Amino acid sequence: MTKLLMRALAGETLPTPPIWMMRQAGRYLPEYRATREKAGDFLSLCYNPELAAEVTLQPIRRFGFDAAILFADILLVPQALGADLWFVTGEGPRLSTIEGEEDFAKLGGKDDIHDTLGPVYETVRILSRELPAETALIGFAGAPWTVATYMVAGRGTSDQGPAHALKDTNRDLFTRLIDKITDATIEYLSKQVEAGAETVKIFDSWAGSLKGRDFDDFALEPTKRIIAELKARHPGLPIIAFPREAGERYIGFHKATGADCVAVDNSVSADWVAKHVQPDGCVQGNLASSHMVTGGQALVDEAQAITRALRGGPHIFNLGHGITPDADPDNVARMIEAVRTA
Ligand code: CP3
Repeated sequence: MTKLLMRALAGETLPTPPIWMMRQAGRYLPEYRATREKAGDFLSLCYNPELAAEVTLQPIRRFGFDAAILFADILLVPQALGADLWFVTGEGPRLSTIEGEEDFAKLGGKDDIHDTLGPVYETVRILSRELPAETALIGFAGAPWTVATYMVAGRGTSDQGPAHALKDTNRDLFTRLIDKITDATIEYLSKQVEAGAETVKIFDSWAGSLKGRDFDDFALEPTKRIIAELKARHPGLPIIAFPREAGERYIGFHKATGADCVAVDNSVSADWVAKHVQPDGCVQGNLASSHMVTGGQALVDEAQAITRALRGGPHIFNLGHGITPDADPDNVARMIEAVRTA
């Protein structure tokens, strides 16, 4: 029996889509909060293979999702390259910034990352032993542009202003930063696959702020290079790309990058995705995560409308972005039931 998620990734049109959720291991679950408490802080949890595997498994036990996503964070790669990283409770990540050549010169290279990231590979090994036979294991990394936005600014920003400024004033340095992250990401994801990840997802959360040539150079090209190299090393590995809020640039993204599946956010309608994106391959998405807070009949109706709109081709059901800490776990169960009975 091939796992449902792997069948959708292979391009199969299924009567019921496989289901998982971005941030499915997270603060909306009391069992996550308890394990995080035990670990100390968020980064200690990421680097503790036993506890990271435990929180990865929690939503699988509770909801029976078709896939588990490795518990880690996209900002572990900058840390492994030598950036300082810490999380401020209630505010988010903080990193040392990249403002010019001097900061860039202090970073390590792709061969220096594995000491730091070793515990993540161990988490993957534990999960590939412990997951139920029908549950697929997804590894992940941030896309180079999204990771660069945090490295340059030293924090999350609403408009990615500092990364745009560096790109526009010193394109050569910015390109070398993107290349360094791309090289490290290839090694990182390759190790996850060797450890047992069956597919990997590339999160480009801020792709939507790149336009025209910048989108080509910094969203499309690095993703394409990561995918080509991973597929050369691991023949048959399916890959999910998530150029969030790419809008019309979702069109043709499978072909342009070689991704097997393109994940879409909820700023585009499922009908539009069925018409313009799904003809090129599997799509993943795209229920607004706010429904996990508000619930009710609107949640059921929207989950079923998305399922039906994308039923004519390969589809993985997911949210349009991560589930939020204020979500009600009962709404997650309701969503799964709605999709499976649509
Ligand atoms: O999806 C999963 O369950 C797997 C684990 C996962 C996390 N982060 C755990 C996490 C994944 C895939 C990510 C990806 C990630 N991390 C992205 C890309 C996806 C997206 O959301 O756009 C980004 C931009 C980050 C960086 C990051 N990590 C930020 C900005 C924050 C703070 C915001 C927040 O929600 O607090 C994090 C923290 C983080 N990463 C948490 C989790 C469960 C919350 C940490 C906690 O327990 O306090």
